[in-house]
Amino acid sequence: MHIWAHRGCSQMYPENTLTAFKKAAEIDGLTGIELDIQLTKDGHLVVFHDEAIDRTTDGCGELRQYTLSELKELRIDAGNGKPEKIPAMEEVFDLLQGKMKQGLKMNIELKNSVFPYEGMEQKIIDMVHQYDLQNNVIYSSFSALSLERIRQLDSEAEIGILDTKASDCLYKLKGGCGADALHPFWKGMDLPKEKLCGYPVRAWLTGHLYPERPTGTKLDLTFLEKQGITDVFLNEPEKYL
Ligand code: G3P
Ligand code: CA
Repeated sequence: MHIWAHRGCSQMYPENTLTAFKKAAEIDGLTGIELDIQLTKDGHLVVFHDEAIDRTTDGCGELRQYTLSELKELRIDAGNGKPEKIPAMEEVFDLLQGKMKQGLKMNIELKNSVFPYEGMEQKIIDMVHQYDLQNNVIYSSFSALSLERIRQLDSEAEIGILDTKASDCLYKLKGGCGADALHPFWKGMDLPKEKLCGYPVRAWLTGHLYPERPTGTKLDLTFLEKQGITDVFLNEPEKYL
């Protein structure tokens, strides 16, 4: 089973922050880091999950209404008196490029199913190529249309289609979105392994994000593997490696 850090080490540290990514990159045996990207009002790629900034920062409203410098004024409470900032995508590549050159992968989820963020596909592909990290990146989205654009822009890109159920991922993939892997919710394995057509299946989990207390419970990864899951995105990868 390949283990990924979902939004970084997002149980112990605030999700999608440089600290959460730095801690994840220190874990031996980690396959990669998953993160979410959106576009600012002035067209910069930033790493952030929700369309609204309210849940994890001291600001309010939609992220897309803010410029990068306005977003940089916001604080993400890290519980230690040293608030984190919303990272620009370049900062994350600057932090992780060394580890990525050594084999660490990155799953970049384009958060564009609520707001389409026109041009985001081209911007992220250009940046990945500028850093020469195209062999270490997997793009994903719930939007099949966006993935189709990625495929048109970069015929070599590795792409995963997101949905809740494995069957919906598969049908979107077969519909021609250009994906070469399924990214379902871990409880959405509604097809037998033989029907997954041999695609990599990278399953994601939700819940228990910082600052919730760790639960102490662990998933039975063997059980997931038997269902055809090849990779898992975990908030607490450190518990499994
Ligand atoms: O990429 C897998 C997973 O992160 C999708 O759900 O809501 O955690 O971004 P979410
Ligand atoms: Ca995500």
